Amino acid sequence: MRQTRHLRASVFVLIAVSAHPAHAGGDAARGADLFRQNCSACHSQEPGQNQVGPSLFSVVGRTAASVGDFSYSPAMKRSGIVWTPDQLMAYLKAPRKYVPGVKMMFPGLSDEKDRENVVAFLATLTQASSANPKTADSQTPKASRTFN
Ligand code: HEC
Repeated sequence: MRQTRHLRASVFVLIAVSAHPAHAGGDAARGADLFRQNCSACHSQEPGQNQVGPSLFSVVGRTAASVGDFSYSPAMKRSGIVWTPDQLMAYLKAPRKYVPGVKMMFPGLSDEKDRENVVAFLATLTQASSANPKTADSQTPKASRTFN
Protein backbone atom coordinates (compact mmCIF):
# COMPACT_ATOMS: atom_id res chain seq x y z
CA MET A 1 0.00 0.00 0.00
CA ARG A 2 2.62 2.49 1.06
CA GLN A 3 4.67 1.43 -1.93
CA THR A 4 1.79 2.19 -4.29
CA ARG A 5 1.23 5.58 -2.81
CA HIS A 6 4.90 6.36 -3.13
CA LEU A 7 4.90 5.26 -6.76
CA ARG A 8 1.89 7.38 -7.51
CA ALA A 9 3.59 10.34 -5.87
CA SER A 10 6.69 9.90 -8.05
CA VAL A 11 4.62 9.67 -11.19
CA PHE A 12 2.90 12.86 -10.21
CA VAL A 13 6.23 14.58 -9.62
CA LEU A 14 7.49 13.39 -13.01
CA ILE A 15 4.43 14.79 -14.75
CA ALA A 16 4.73 18.04 -12.83
CA VAL A 17 8.37 18.36 -13.88
CA SER A 18 7.74 17.67 -17.56
CA ALA A 19 4.92 20.18 -17.53
CA HIS A 20 7.62 22.82 -17.12
CA PRO A 21 9.64 22.28 -20.25
CA ALA A 22 12.04 25.12 -19.63
CA HIS A 23 12.58 24.16 -16.00
CA ALA A 24 11.24 27.47 -14.97
CA GLY A 25 12.64 26.90 -11.48
CA GLY A 26 16.18 27.20 -12.79
CA ASP A 27 18.12 30.40 -12.29
CA ALA A 28 19.83 31.31 -15.56
CA ALA A 29 22.25 33.75 -13.92
CA ARG A 30 23.40 31.11 -11.47
CA GLY A 31 23.51 28.71 -14.40
CA ALA A 32 25.85 31.04 -16.27
CA ASP A 33 28.33 30.83 -13.37
CA LEU A 34 28.03 27.06 -13.27
CA PHE A 35 28.54 26.93 -17.04
CA ARG A 36 31.74 28.97 -16.73
CA GLN A 37 33.03 26.71 -13.98
CA ASN A 38 32.01 23.33 -15.39
CA CYS A 39 31.47 23.53 -19.13
CA SER A 40 33.31 26.43 -20.73
CA ALA A 41 36.66 24.62 -20.68
CA CYS A 42 35.22 22.48 -23.47
CA HIS A 43 32.13 24.31 -24.78
CA SER A 44 31.54 27.74 -26.27
CA GLN A 45 28.16 29.41 -25.95
CA GLU A 46 28.76 31.27 -29.24
CA PRO A 47 27.38 29.97 -32.53
CA GLY A 48 29.84 28.08 -34.73
CA GLN A 49 32.65 27.88 -32.17
CA ASN A 50 33.55 24.29 -31.51
CA GLN A 51 36.23 23.49 -28.95
CA VAL A 52 36.84 20.10 -27.33
CA GLY A 53 33.04 19.89 -27.40
CA PRO A 54 30.52 21.33 -29.86
CA SER A 55 29.13 24.85 -29.52
CA LEU A 56 26.17 24.83 -27.17
CA PHE A 57 24.54 27.82 -28.80
CA SER A 58 20.86 27.03 -29.32
CA VAL A 59 21.32 23.50 -27.97
CA VAL A 60 17.87 23.37 -26.36
CA GLY A 61 15.53 21.79 -28.87
CA ARG A 62 18.15 20.56 -31.30
CA THR A 63 18.87 16.94 -32.15
CA ALA A 64 21.99 15.42 -30.61
CA ALA A 65 25.09 15.41 -32.81
CA SER A 66 23.69 17.98 -35.23
CA VAL A 67 26.49 20.57 -35.26
CA GLY A 68 27.66 19.80 -38.77
CA ASP A 69 31.38 20.50 -38.46
CA PHE A 70 31.89 18.80 -35.08
CA SER A 71 33.23 15.27 -34.99
CA TYR A 72 30.88 13.44 -32.62
CA SER A 73 31.34 9.95 -31.22
CA PRO A 74 29.34 7.17 -32.89
CA ALA A 75 27.48 6.82 -29.56
CA MET A 76 26.25 10.40 -29.64
CA LYS A 77 25.30 10.13 -33.33
CA ARG A 78 23.31 6.97 -32.64
CA SER A 79 21.58 8.34 -29.54
CA GLY A 80 18.69 9.98 -31.40
CA ILE A 81 18.17 12.34 -28.45
CA VAL A 82 16.42 15.67 -28.88
CA TRP A 83 17.84 18.04 -26.28
CA THR A 84 14.69 19.02 -24.44
CA PRO A 85 15.26 20.41 -20.93
CA ASP A 86 14.26 17.00 -19.54
CA GLN A 87 16.82 15.18 -21.69
CA LEU A 88 19.49 17.68 -20.70
CA MET A 89 18.64 17.19 -17.02
CA ALA A 90 19.09 13.43 -17.41
CA TYR A 91 22.23 13.65 -19.53
CA LEU A 92 24.03 16.17 -17.35
CA LYS A 93 23.52 14.08 -14.25
CA ALA A 94 25.88 11.40 -15.58
CA PRO A 95 26.68 11.91 -19.27
CA ARG A 96 28.59 8.69 -19.84
CA LYS A 97 25.99 6.60 -18.07
CA TYR A 98 23.06 8.19 -19.88
CA VAL A 99 24.72 7.77 -23.28
CA PRO A 100 27.37 5.07 -22.89
CA GLY A 101 30.35 5.67 -25.12
CA VAL A 102 30.13 9.45 -25.44
CA LYS A 103 33.44 11.24 -25.41
CA MET A 104 32.39 14.02 -23.03
CA MET A 105 34.89 13.50 -20.22
CA PHE A 106 32.78 15.08 -17.53
CA PRO A 107 31.44 13.16 -14.54
CA GLY A 108 28.17 15.09 -14.35
CA LEU A 109 26.42 17.54 -12.06
CA SER A 110 24.99 15.54 -9.19
CA ASP A 111 23.03 18.43 -7.69
CA GLU A 112 19.60 18.68 -9.33
CA LYS A 113 19.35 22.41 -8.63
CA ASP A 114 22.70 22.98 -10.36
CA ARG A 115 21.43 21.08 -13.37
CA GLU A 116 18.21 23.09 -13.46
CA ASN A 117 20.22 26.29 -13.34
CA VAL A 118 22.55 25.20 -16.14
CA VAL A 119 19.61 24.10 -18.29
CA ALA A 120 17.88 27.45 -17.63
CA PHE A 121 21.06 29.16 -18.82
CA LEU A 122 21.35 26.93 -21.92
CA ALA A 123 17.76 27.86 -22.77
CA THR A 124 18.82 31.52 -23.05
CA LEU A 125 21.35 30.76 -25.80
CA THR A 126 19.05 31.43 -28.70
CA GLN A 127 19.23 33.67 -31.74
CA ALA A 128 16.66 36.12 -30.45
CA SER A 129 17.96 36.47 -26.97
CA SER A 130 21.63 35.62 -26.61
CA ALA A 131 22.44 39.25 -25.94
CA ASN A 132 20.11 39.43 -22.97
CA PRO A 133 19.33 36.34 -20.89
CA LYS A 134 16.66 38.23 -18.96
CA THR A 135 14.36 38.77 -21.92
CA ALA A 136 14.99 35.19 -22.98
CA ASP A 137 13.02 33.82 -20.07
CA SER A 138 9.66 34.68 -21.56
CA GLN A 139 10.61 33.30 -24.97
CA THR A 140 12.30 30.00 -24.28
CA PRO A 141 9.35 27.95 -23.01
CA LYS A 142 7.64 28.46 -26.34
CA ALA A 143 10.67 27.21 -28.22
CA SER A 144 11.15 24.09 -26.14
CA ARG A 145 7.47 23.16 -26.09
CA THR A 146 7.62 22.63 -29.84
CA PHE A 147 9.82 19.62 -29.26
CA ASN A 148 7.89 17.85 -26.57
C1 HEC B 1 36.08 17.80 -20.75
C2 HEC B 1 35.33 18.45 -21.78
C3 HEC B 1 33.85 18.69 -21.56
C4 HEC B 1 33.23 19.26 -20.47
C5 HEC B 1 33.86 19.77 -19.19
C6 HEC B 1 31.82 19.31 -20.80
N1 HEC B 1 31.60 18.77 -22.03
FE1 HEC B 1 29.79 18.60 -22.98
N2 HEC B 1 30.67 17.62 -24.52
C7 HEC B 1 32.04 17.38 -24.65
C8 HEC B 1 32.28 16.59 -25.83
C9 HEC B 1 33.64 16.12 -26.34
C10 HEC B 1 31.01 16.35 -26.42
C11 HEC B 1 30.70 15.50 -27.64
C12 HEC B 1 30.37 14.10 -27.13
C13 HEC B 1 30.34 13.00 -28.17
O1 HEC B 1 30.34 13.26 -29.37
O2 HEC B 1 30.33 11.84 -27.73
C14 HEC B 1 30.02 17.02 -25.57
C15 HEC B 1 28.66 17.04 -25.82
C16 HEC B 1 27.74 17.76 -25.08
C17 HEC B 1 26.35 17.89 -25.41
C18 HEC B 1 25.66 17.32 -26.65
C19 HEC B 1 25.76 18.39 -27.73
C20 HEC B 1 25.22 18.02 -29.08
O3 HEC B 1 25.42 18.83 -30.00
O4 HEC B 1 24.59 16.97 -29.25
C21 HEC B 1 25.79 18.68 -24.45
C22 HEC B 1 24.35 19.12 -24.37
C23 HEC B 1 26.83 19.03 -23.53
N3 HEC B 1 28.01 18.46 -23.93
C24 HEC B 1 26.65 19.85 -22.43
C25 HEC B 1 27.63 20.11 -21.48
C26 HEC B 1 27.42 20.92 -20.29
C27 HEC B 1 26.14 21.66 -19.97
C28 HEC B 1 28.59 20.89 -19.58
C29 HEC B 1 28.86 21.49 -18.22
C30 HEC B 1 27.92 21.13 -17.16
C31 HEC B 1 29.54 20.09 -20.34
N4 HEC B 1 28.93 19.64 -21.48
C32 HEC B 1 30.85 19.84 -19.96
C33 HEC B 1 33.02 17.81 -23.78
C34 HEC B 1 32.80 18.38 -22.54
